Order: sequence, then C-alpha cells, then structure tokens
Amino acid sequence: MKSLIVANWKMNPKTYKEAKKLFDETKRLTGLLKGVSVVVCPPAVFLRSLAIGQRAGRISFGAQNVHFEAQGSYTGEISVAQVKDAKAAYAIIGHAERRAMGETNYDVRKKVDAALVGGLTPIMCIGEKERGHGAEHFELAREQLRVGLSEDAGKRLSKIIIAYEPVWAIGATKAMEPRQMHEMAIFIRKTLVERFGEAGHSIKILYGGSVDGKNAGDMLRNGDVTGLLVGRVSVDSQAFSELLRACAEA
Ligand code: PGA
Repeated sequence: MKSLIVANWKMNPKTYKEAKKLFDETKRLTGLLKGVSVVVCPPAVFLRSLAIGQRAGRISFGAQNVHFEAQGSYTGEISVAQVKDAKAAYAIIGHAERRAMGETNYDVRKKVDAALVGGLTPIMCIGEKERGHGAEHFELAREQLRVGLSEDAGKRLSKIIIAYEPVWAIGATKAMEPRQMHEMAIFIRKTLVERFGEAGHSIKILYGGSVDGKNAGDMLRNGDVTGLLVGRVSVDSQAFSELLRACAEA
C-alpha cells in the first residue's frame, strides 16, 4: 500500500518564489517514487498559486488550519469553502502548535465537522504534551478523540485521518519508537471501534514528530501507520528526498 506523507510547511518558506522551488522539487521526487503520495500543506497564501493547474495525482494539497464557520466576520480566518476553492483536498486540524495558541478539543470537533460537510479530508492531530510512566497518554488520546469526533464524524470515519503527534517529539531531536506508535495505533482503533463500531478498525493513522530519512522506514514498517506528518524535513528538499526514498522502500 502507498504511504501517505503530509508535508506541513508551517510558516515557511519566506517567499512565493522559494515555495514554488520547494514545491517543484517535491513534485519531481514524488513523481519518481511509486510507493508514496504526498499532501503539501503550504502557508495559505501560497496554496492557490501552487495548486492551480496541477493534475490530480500523487501530489495533493492541504491547508494547515480552517475555521468552523462557513463565512462572516472572522478576521484572519479561512473557511473550508475557500480552502476547497484554492484546490486543496485536506486540512490539518488541531495541530499541537494551534492547540498551544488556545485551540480546544471543542474547536477541533467543530472544525472536523465543518471539513467533512465541506468535502475536505480532515487530518485531526492528537497527542500528549509529555509522557510519564503511567497510562495518562492513553487517557488524553481517548479524551481528544471523544470530544474531537462528533457522532456525525463517527459515521464518516473512512473520510478522516488521525495524526498522532506526541508534542514532546515535535521539533525534537528524536522521534518516538515505532513500538510505542504501534501501541497507540491499537489504542486509537480500539477506542473508535468501541464507540463507532467496526469502521474504527480501518481508520487511517499517521505518525508525526521528528520524522526523517533515518527513522521513517522503521516507523512505516513497525508503527502500524498509513503514513507520516512531517514538519522541518518537508521544507528541506535534500532531507525530504531522503525521507521519501526511505518511505518508498518501506
Ligand atoms: P517536525 O514537526 O517534523 O519538525 O518535528 C512535525 C509537526 O509538527 O507536524
């Protein structure tokens, strides 16, 4: 099965010119490697210009955030319809960096619902801030899933992607161990099956947090995930090329 690699560019690069160069390189690499699909999530101002004229293929586009209201007086926000109109098919929702700016599980729920209604695939991020020795990280994941996914969302699990990103592994020097991801993937599925039934078994799960060319293959082989959410490495063509190769081989 193809691995889904989500390139979260965050607030990079500085100019459209650089963004275009990075995108062209990403597209070229993806074209060479059969085993991967890439979702490029650039800053929203670059989205349309990058996406326009691109044929549907193994590269698609996503927004890094959306607002839950359809339109109106929400200065600085971007709606699902606007993101769709800019030719994106995905939206990252509830990324740890947005949660750190005040986004709650309830905001995430409204955004996931809005994305589904509007025809975007939500990539819903969950994950604990720190990891102790107990089972707190499982409890937190359960709570983020419970509040973040409405009953309506539960009926459309095949249209949802869960990205598990332990906050302590984001922007860090080391990724989480695949074995720990495997445990969490089982937990996520079990939690969803308990609440929504069999469809929970086939939920797509990504791992995110300090993914690179060295750890990506192991994570895909042993972490029980469909793909990866990549930050820093996705804005460095050389490093991203190594990562994509590792994913294609896995
Ligand atoms: P990182 O970021 O790959 O730079 O750790 C991952 C993320 O925040 O999605």
